[in-house]
Amino acid sequence: MITFVGTDAVLPLRSRVLRDGKPFQECVFPGDELETTFHLADIQNNEAVCVATFHLHAHPAFKGDAYQLRGMATAPESRGNGIGNQLLNFAIVYLRGLKTDYVWCNARKAAYSFYLGVGFEFISEEFEIAGIGPHRAMYLKIRH
Ligand SMILES: CC(C)(COP(=O)(O)OP(=O)(O)OC[C@H]1O[C@@H](n2cnc3c(N)ncnc32)[C@H](O)[C@@H]1OP(=O)(O)O)[C@@H](O)C(=O)NCCC(=O)NCCS
Repeated sequence: MITFVGTDAVLPLRSRVLRDGKPFQECVFPGDELETTFHLADIQNNEAVCVATFHLHAHPAFKGDAYQLRGMATAPESRGNGIGNQLLNFAIVYLRGLKTDYVWCNARKAAYSFYLGVGFEFISEEFEIAGIGPHRAMYLKIRH
């Protein structure tokens, strides 16, 4: 079941998938606790199998009310089943209700095709994030 959760519920998967098992407190992003931030998780058998976080934050190159998607992660054993796609579509419906203009992210190279499949477009050339690798900014206009 996809549902809104607090920061605590996204940290275990964020740590395991995106931060090499670092202690949870080191996996907190600035802004995680803001009122305007929301976190989503797909909970199965009391465990988060997919998580994502949305910060109210426009991309520097695009005006408007926008959310930055961060910390998108599906547990390795649950990937390829459409769970990540479903979670982002849940977010898109919610963001449409908020009259958000667009959602964007800095996508890892390995996730480009995943985001393209959800409908995101590239909005930057490739750039390097130290210690993680190549990324491109991608965005999805929210139609309402
Ligand atoms: C990127 C990530 C979040 C995708 O999560 P996921 O739950 O596996 O996503 P989905 O199952 O919806 O889609 C994954 C693939 O399965 C395919 N798929 C979608 N629905 C499917 C279904 N019902 N059955 C089989 N395959 C399906 C998709 O086409 C997609 O293929 P693609 O990656 O070649 O485009 C996950 O791979 C992950 O956590 N990766 C490591 C962390 C990471 O890179 N995060 C993004 C940081 S920017």
